[in-house]
Amino acid sequence: MSKPKILVARAIFPEVLAKLSQHFEVSSNQADELWSPAQLIAQLQGKVGAFTTGGERIDAALLVACPDLKICANMAVGYNNFDVDAMTAAGVLATNAPDVLTETTADFGFALLMATARRMAESEHFLRAGKWTKWGFDMFAGSDIHGSTLGILGMGRIGQGIAKRGAHGFGMNVIYHNRSQLDAATEAECKARLVSKEELLKTADHLVLVLPYSAQSHHAIGAAELALMKPTATLINIARGGIVDDAALVHALRNKTIAAAGLDVFEGEPKLNPDLLTVPNVVLTPHIASATIPTRKAMAHLAADNLIGYLTQNKALTPLNPAVVAQRPSL
Ligand code: DGY
Repeated sequence: MSKPKILVARAIFPEVLAKLSQHFEVSSNQADELWSPAQLIAQLQGKVGAFTTGGERIDAALLVACPDLKICANMAVGYNNFDVDAMTAAGVLATNAPDVLTETTADFGFALLMATARRMAESEHFLRAGKWTKWGFDMFAGSDIHGSTLGILGMGRIGQGIAKRGAHGFGMNVIYHNRSQLDAATEAECKARLVSKEELLKTADHLVLVLPYSAQSHHAIGAAELALMKPTATLINIARGGIVDDAALVHALRNKTIAAAGLDVFEGEPKLNPDLLTVPNVVLTPHIASATIPTRKAMAHLAADNLIGYLTQNKALTPLNPAVVAQRPSL
Protein backbone atom coordinates (compact mmCIF):
# COMPACT_ATOMS: atom_id res chain seq x y z
CA MET A 1 0.00 0.00 0.00
CA SER A 2 1.36 3.43 -0.90
CA LYS A 3 2.14 5.81 1.91
CA PRO A 4 0.17 9.06 2.39
CA LYS A 5 1.90 12.11 0.91
CA ILE A 6 3.01 15.06 3.00
CA LEU A 7 4.92 18.29 2.41
CA VAL A 8 7.63 19.72 4.66
CA ALA A 9 7.52 23.37 3.62
CA ARG A 10 10.95 24.50 4.88
CA ALA A 11 14.33 22.90 5.49
CA ILE A 12 14.39 20.84 8.66
CA PHE A 13 16.60 18.44 10.65
CA PRO A 14 17.40 15.30 8.58
CA GLU A 15 16.48 13.11 11.59
CA VAL A 16 12.96 14.56 11.53
CA LEU A 17 12.65 13.91 7.79
CA ALA A 18 13.82 10.33 8.40
CA LYS A 19 11.18 9.85 11.09
CA LEU A 20 8.43 11.23 8.83
CA SER A 21 9.62 9.07 5.93
CA GLN A 22 8.87 5.93 7.96
CA HIS A 23 5.17 6.79 7.67
CA PHE A 24 4.81 9.06 4.67
CA GLU A 25 5.99 9.80 1.18
CA VAL A 26 7.71 13.09 2.05
CA SER A 27 8.31 16.02 -0.28
CA SER A 28 10.62 18.41 1.48
CA ASN A 29 12.01 21.84 0.77
CA GLN A 30 15.56 21.11 1.95
CA ALA A 31 16.75 23.83 -0.46
CA ASP A 32 14.83 26.16 1.88
CA GLU A 33 13.30 28.21 -0.91
CA LEU A 34 10.80 30.87 0.11
CA TRP A 35 7.65 29.90 -1.79
CA SER A 36 4.94 32.31 -2.87
CA PRO A 37 1.35 31.39 -1.88
CA ALA A 38 0.83 30.04 -5.44
CA GLN A 39 4.00 27.91 -5.20
CA LEU A 40 2.90 26.57 -1.82
CA ILE A 41 -0.48 25.60 -3.28
CA ALA A 42 1.25 23.85 -6.18
CA GLN A 43 3.55 21.96 -3.79
CA LEU A 44 0.58 20.88 -1.65
CA GLN A 45 -1.34 19.18 -4.47
CA GLY A 46 -2.12 15.60 -3.48
CA LYS A 47 -0.68 16.09 0.03
CA VAL A 48 -2.70 15.15 3.12
CA GLY A 49 -0.34 16.79 5.58
CA ALA A 50 1.83 19.90 5.77
CA PHE A 51 4.72 20.58 8.12
CA THR A 52 4.88 24.37 8.40
CA THR A 53 7.21 26.68 10.29
CA GLY A 54 5.20 29.83 10.89
CA GLY A 55 5.91 31.63 7.63
CA GLU A 56 3.47 29.72 5.44
CA ARG A 57 -0.01 31.26 5.37
CA ILE A 58 -2.79 28.66 5.52
CA ASP A 59 -6.02 30.47 4.66
CA ALA A 60 -9.40 29.88 3.02
CA ALA A 61 -8.06 30.39 -0.51
CA LEU A 62 -5.29 27.83 -0.01
CA LEU A 63 -7.69 25.35 1.60
CA VAL A 64 -10.07 25.52 -1.38
CA ALA A 65 -7.13 24.92 -3.72
CA CYS A 66 -5.78 21.97 -1.66
CA PRO A 67 -8.79 19.71 -1.08
CA ASP A 68 -6.69 16.70 0.01
CA LEU A 69 -5.17 18.49 2.98
CA LYS A 70 -6.13 17.05 6.40
CA ILE A 71 -3.58 18.58 8.81
CA CYS A 72 -1.10 21.44 9.04
CA ALA A 73 1.41 21.06 11.86
CA ASN A 74 3.20 24.28 12.77
CA MET A 75 6.71 24.07 14.20
CA ALA A 76 6.01 27.17 16.31
CA VAL A 77 3.92 27.98 19.33
CA GLY A 78 2.54 31.07 17.56
CA TYR A 79 0.08 30.29 14.79
CA ASN A 80 -0.96 33.62 13.34
CA ASN A 81 -0.07 32.15 9.93
CA PHE A 82 -3.12 29.88 10.30
CA ASP A 83 -6.70 30.97 9.73
CA VAL A 84 -7.93 28.45 12.29
CA ASP A 85 -11.63 29.19 11.64
CA ALA A 86 -11.19 28.53 7.93
CA MET A 87 -9.25 25.35 8.72
CA THR A 88 -12.00 24.14 11.06
CA ALA A 89 -14.64 24.89 8.42
CA ALA A 90 -12.61 22.92 5.87
CA GLY A 91 -12.10 20.01 8.31
CA VAL A 92 -8.32 20.58 8.40
CA LEU A 93 -6.59 20.04 11.73
CA ALA A 94 -4.24 22.78 12.96
CA THR A 95 -1.53 21.99 15.50
CA ASN A 96 1.20 24.13 17.05
CA ALA A 97 4.29 23.41 19.18
CA PRO A 98 3.73 24.75 22.71
CA ASP A 99 5.62 24.04 25.96
CA VAL A 100 8.83 22.63 24.47
CA LEU A 101 10.17 26.14 23.81
CA THR A 102 8.95 27.90 26.95
CA GLU A 103 12.16 27.99 28.99
CA THR A 104 14.47 28.65 26.03
CA THR A 105 12.29 31.54 24.88
CA ALA A 106 12.05 32.95 28.41
CA ASP A 107 15.87 32.75 28.65
CA PHE A 108 16.14 34.74 25.44
CA GLY A 109 13.56 37.32 26.53
CA PHE A 110 15.60 37.91 29.64
CA ALA A 111 18.87 38.04 27.68
CA LEU A 112 17.39 40.63 25.31
CA LEU A 113 16.13 42.64 28.26
CA MET A 114 19.58 42.66 29.84
CA ALA A 115 21.37 43.47 26.58
CA THR A 116 18.95 46.34 25.97
CA ALA A 117 18.91 47.84 29.47
CA ARG A 118 22.70 47.61 29.79
CA ARG A 119 23.34 48.86 26.22
CA MET A 120 25.46 45.87 25.25
CA ALA A 121 24.98 46.03 21.48
CA GLU A 122 25.47 49.77 21.27
CA SER A 123 28.65 49.68 23.34
CA GLU A 124 30.02 46.70 21.42
CA HIS A 125 29.51 48.52 18.10
CA PHE A 126 31.35 51.51 19.60
CA LEU A 127 34.27 49.31 20.65
CA ARG A 128 34.44 47.44 17.32
CA ALA A 129 34.44 50.76 15.48
CA GLY A 130 37.67 51.66 17.31
CA LYS A 131 36.02 54.56 19.14
CA TRP A 132 37.03 53.50 22.68
CA THR A 133 39.95 55.72 23.58
CA LYS A 134 39.25 56.45 27.25
CA TRP A 135 37.02 55.43 30.15
CA GLY A 136 34.17 57.80 30.99
CA PHE A 137 32.16 58.04 34.22
CA ASP A 138 28.80 57.80 32.41
CA MET A 139 29.91 55.91 29.34
CA PHE A 140 27.03 53.70 28.15
CA ALA A 141 25.30 54.04 31.50
CA GLY A 142 22.14 51.97 31.31
CA SER A 143 19.36 51.11 33.68
CA ASP A 144 19.34 48.59 36.50
CA ILE A 145 17.55 45.30 36.24
CA HIS A 146 17.81 44.07 39.84
CA GLY A 147 15.20 45.61 42.07
CA SER A 148 13.38 47.33 39.20
CA THR A 149 9.79 46.85 38.07
CA LEU A 150 9.29 44.24 35.36
CA GLY A 151 6.06 44.58 33.37
CA ILE A 152 4.79 41.68 31.30
CA LEU A 153 2.04 42.04 28.70
CA GLY A 154 0.65 38.57 27.98
CA MET A 155 1.11 36.18 30.88
CA GLY A 156 1.09 32.77 29.24
CA ARG A 157 3.74 30.13 29.84
CA ILE A 158 6.61 32.20 28.40
CA GLY A 159 5.50 35.32 30.28
CA GLN A 160 5.44 33.29 33.49
CA GLY A 161 8.95 31.99 32.75
CA ILE A 162 10.22 35.57 32.39
CA ALA A 163 8.40 36.63 35.56
CA LYS A 164 10.05 33.84 37.56
CA ARG A 165 13.50 34.74 36.24
CA GLY A 166 12.93 38.39 37.17
CA ALA A 167 11.37 37.83 40.58
CA HIS A 168 13.56 35.00 41.85
CA GLY A 169 16.83 35.76 40.06
CA PHE A 170 16.90 39.56 40.12
CA GLY A 171 14.54 40.57 42.92
CA MET A 172 12.31 42.41 40.48
CA ASN A 173 8.87 43.65 41.34
CA VAL A 174 6.70 41.88 38.73
CA ILE A 175 3.44 43.26 37.39
CA TYR A 176 1.45 41.91 34.47
CA HIS A 177 -1.54 42.54 32.30
CA ASN A 178 -3.41 39.69 30.69
CA ARG A 179 -6.86 38.80 29.34
CA SER A 180 -7.48 36.79 32.51
CA GLN A 181 -5.95 36.75 35.97
CA LEU A 182 -3.63 33.86 36.83
CA ASP A 183 -4.74 31.58 39.64
CA ALA A 184 -3.41 32.50 43.08
CA ALA A 185 -0.83 29.69 43.18
CA THR A 186 0.69 30.70 39.82
CA GLU A 187 0.70 34.37 40.80
CA ALA A 188 2.54 33.43 43.99
CA GLU A 189 5.04 31.28 42.08
CA CYS A 190 5.73 34.15 39.68
CA LYS A 191 5.52 36.75 42.48
CA ALA A 192 3.39 38.71 40.02
CA ARG A 193 0.50 41.13 40.44
CA LEU A 194 -2.23 41.85 37.86
CA VAL A 195 -2.59 45.53 36.92
CA SER A 196 -4.45 47.52 34.26
CA LYS A 197 -2.68 48.04 30.93
CA GLU A 198 -2.36 51.73 31.77
CA GLU A 199 -0.68 51.04 35.12
CA LEU A 200 1.61 48.51 33.43
CA LEU A 201 2.73 51.08 30.86
CA LYS A 202 3.17 53.87 33.39
CA THR A 203 4.93 51.80 36.07
CA ALA A 204 7.19 49.29 34.34
CA ASP A 205 10.91 50.00 34.14
CA HIS A 206 11.17 47.15 31.66
CA LEU A 207 8.16 46.04 29.63
CA VAL A 208 8.26 42.63 27.92
CA LEU A 209 5.66 41.72 25.28
CA VAL A 210 4.73 38.06 25.15
CA LEU A 211 1.14 38.13 23.90
CA PRO A 212 -0.14 36.29 20.81
CA TYR A 213 -0.70 38.29 17.64
CA SER A 214 -4.30 38.77 16.53
CA ALA A 215 -6.46 41.53 15.06
CA GLN A 216 -7.08 42.61 18.68
CA SER A 217 -3.39 42.82 19.59
CA HIS A 218 -2.36 44.61 16.35
CA HIS A 219 -0.45 47.75 17.43
CA ALA A 220 -1.21 47.05 21.10
CA ILE A 221 1.86 49.25 21.59
CA GLY A 222 1.53 52.37 19.45
CA ALA A 223 2.24 56.06 19.89
CA ALA A 224 -0.34 56.50 22.68
CA GLU A 225 1.00 53.57 24.70
CA LEU A 226 4.65 54.57 24.20
CA ALA A 227 3.76 58.07 25.44
CA LEU A 228 2.60 56.59 28.74
CA MET A 229 5.90 54.79 29.37
CA LYS A 230 8.71 56.20 31.50
CA PRO A 231 11.50 58.01 29.62
CA THR A 232 13.91 55.60 31.33
CA ALA A 233 11.93 52.48 30.32
CA THR A 234 12.96 49.68 28.00
CA LEU A 235 10.56 47.79 25.73
CA ILE A 236 11.19 44.18 24.67
CA ASN A 237 9.19 42.42 21.93
CA ILE A 238 9.69 38.65 21.60
CA ALA A 239 6.06 38.03 20.65
CA ARG A 240 5.21 38.90 17.05
CA GLY A 241 5.76 41.73 14.63
CA GLY A 242 2.67 43.91 14.37
CA ILE A 243 2.06 44.01 18.11
CA VAL A 244 4.30 47.09 18.17
CA ASP A 245 3.81 49.94 15.72
CA ASP A 246 7.45 49.97 14.60
CA ALA A 247 7.23 53.47 13.07
CA ALA A 248 5.87 54.88 16.34
CA LEU A 249 8.64 53.06 18.20
CA VAL A 250 11.34 54.60 16.02
CA HIS A 251 9.87 58.01 16.81
CA ALA A 252 9.86 57.28 20.56
CA LEU A 253 13.45 55.99 20.48
CA ARG A 254 14.68 58.99 18.49
CA ASN A 255 12.97 61.42 20.81
CA LYS A 256 14.01 59.44 23.90
CA THR A 257 10.44 59.24 25.16
CA ILE A 258 11.55 55.72 26.11
CA ALA A 259 15.20 54.78 26.72
CA ALA A 260 15.67 51.71 24.56
CA ALA A 261 14.05 48.72 22.89
CA GLY A 262 15.01 45.12 22.19
CA LEU A 263 13.23 43.53 19.24
CA ASP A 264 13.32 39.92 18.06
CA VAL A 265 10.23 40.29 15.82
CA PHE A 266 9.22 42.95 13.30
CA GLU A 267 6.34 44.15 11.19
CA GLY A 268 6.76 42.54 7.76
CA GLU A 269 9.81 40.47 8.78
CA PRO A 270 12.26 39.43 7.49
CA LYS A 271 12.11 42.94 6.02
CA LEU A 272 12.08 45.60 8.67
CA ASN A 273 11.39 49.29 8.95
CA PRO A 274 14.75 50.68 7.70
CA ASP A 275 14.56 53.51 10.24
CA LEU A 276 15.12 50.92 12.99
CA LEU A 277 18.65 50.50 11.64
CA THR A 278 19.38 54.18 12.16
CA VAL A 279 18.55 54.42 15.87
CA PRO A 280 21.34 53.39 18.25
CA ASN A 281 19.18 52.61 21.28
CA VAL A 282 17.64 49.44 19.91
CA VAL A 283 18.93 45.86 19.97
CA LEU A 284 17.78 43.88 16.92
CA THR A 285 17.80 40.09 16.54
CA PRO A 286 16.32 37.99 13.68
CA HIS A 287 13.45 36.07 15.38
CA ILE A 288 15.71 33.67 17.29
CA ALA A 289 14.09 33.50 20.73
CA SER A 290 13.54 29.74 20.50
CA ALA A 291 16.77 29.06 18.62
CA THR A 292 18.79 26.48 20.48
CA ILE A 293 19.37 23.17 18.75
CA PRO A 294 17.72 21.03 21.48
CA THR A 295 14.64 23.28 21.52
CA ARG A 296 14.33 23.55 17.74
CA LYS A 297 14.64 19.74 17.57
CA ALA A 298 11.93 19.34 20.21
CA MET A 299 9.66 21.72 18.25
CA ALA A 300 10.29 19.85 14.99
CA HIS A 301 9.69 16.45 16.60
CA LEU A 302 6.44 17.69 18.14
CA ALA A 303 5.20 18.92 14.75
CA ALA A 304 6.23 15.58 13.20
CA ASP A 305 4.50 13.62 15.99
CA ASN A 306 1.31 15.58 15.38
CA LEU A 307 1.39 14.59 11.70
CA ILE A 308 2.17 10.94 12.47
CA GLY A 309 -0.36 10.73 15.30
CA TYR A 310 -3.20 12.29 13.38
CA LEU A 311 -2.66 10.67 10.01
CA THR A 312 -1.96 7.18 11.35
CA GLN A 313 -4.04 6.96 14.54
CA ASN A 314 -6.44 9.91 14.47
CA LYS A 315 -4.70 11.37 17.53
CA ALA A 316 -3.08 14.79 17.75
CA LEU A 317 -0.87 15.91 20.62
CA THR A 318 -1.44 19.66 20.47
CA PRO A 319 -4.54 20.40 18.41
CA LEU A 320 -5.73 24.00 18.02
CA ASN A 321 -9.13 22.98 16.65
CA PRO A 322 -9.81 19.63 18.39
CA ALA A 323 -13.35 19.54 17.03
CA VAL A 324 -11.82 18.47 13.71
CA VAL A 325 -10.31 15.38 15.38
CA ALA A 326 -13.64 14.49 16.98
CA GLN A 327 -15.50 14.84 13.66
CA ARG A 328 -13.08 12.74 11.63
CA PRO A 329 -14.31 9.20 11.02
CA SER A 330 -12.14 6.62 12.82
CA LEU A 331 -9.39 5.17 10.72
C1 DGY B 1 7.17 30.52 17.92
O1 DGY B 1 7.30 29.34 18.17
O2 DGY B 1 6.07 31.05 17.78
C2 DGY B 1 8.41 31.32 17.81
O3 DGY B 1 8.16 32.65 17.53
C3 DGY B 1 9.32 30.72 16.78
O4 DGY B 1 8.79 30.89 15.53
